[in-house]
Amino acid sequence: MSERDDHELRISKIENGTVIDHIAGGHAPDVLAILGIGSSTDEVVSVGMNVPSDRLGHKDVVKIEGRELSQDEVDVISLIAPAASINIIREYGVAEKHRVERPAVVEGVLSCPNHDCITTDGEPVTSRFEVLDDGVRCAYCETILRENLTEHIDV
Ligand code: CTP
Ligand code: ZN
Repeated sequence: MSERDDHELRISKIENGTVIDHIAGGHAPDVLAILGIGSSTDEVVSVGMNVPSDRLGHKDVVKIEGRELSQDEVDVISLIAPAASINIIREYGVAEKHRVERPAVVEGVLSCPNHDCITTDGEPVTSRFEVLDDGVRCAYCETILRENLTEHIDV
């Protein structure tokens, strides 16, 4: 077994569920926040932070047993972890593997911080953000969010 395989075994393989791999070092907690996994969760979750990686130097990994992610969840993950890969695990094997793709727009998942925005003043308007290279922009009031996107998740 190579040294690298040994590192990989820091976290056990899972039987069924999703492995979110190649998250930039330190961002696993943001991914957990997007997925609504906090201190009161009863899901079976393994987290590796700053694990050695050939491709990224150091990476974070999140493994969630018995759950496959929705496209909305994957879209938001792509905003904070653009290099992440999503592996669907079935009966211990990698059944599907794909890199996340940054969508052109995200609808109904982020809330606009502008209290005067039509999406936050009580009107039945779904939030809509255009995805930029370095952030997202509200399609209604043009407010730009660059950091702490996880604080604006509305799911
Ligand atoms: N994995 C897991 N449980 C399994 C199978 C795989 O937790 N039953 C994890 C692996 O530890 C790895 C990820 O899922 O973090 C992808 O597995 P695999 O494709 O076998 O690894 P690599 O070839 O290293 O993936 P990549 O090419 O995407 O780096
Ligand atoms: Zn707005």
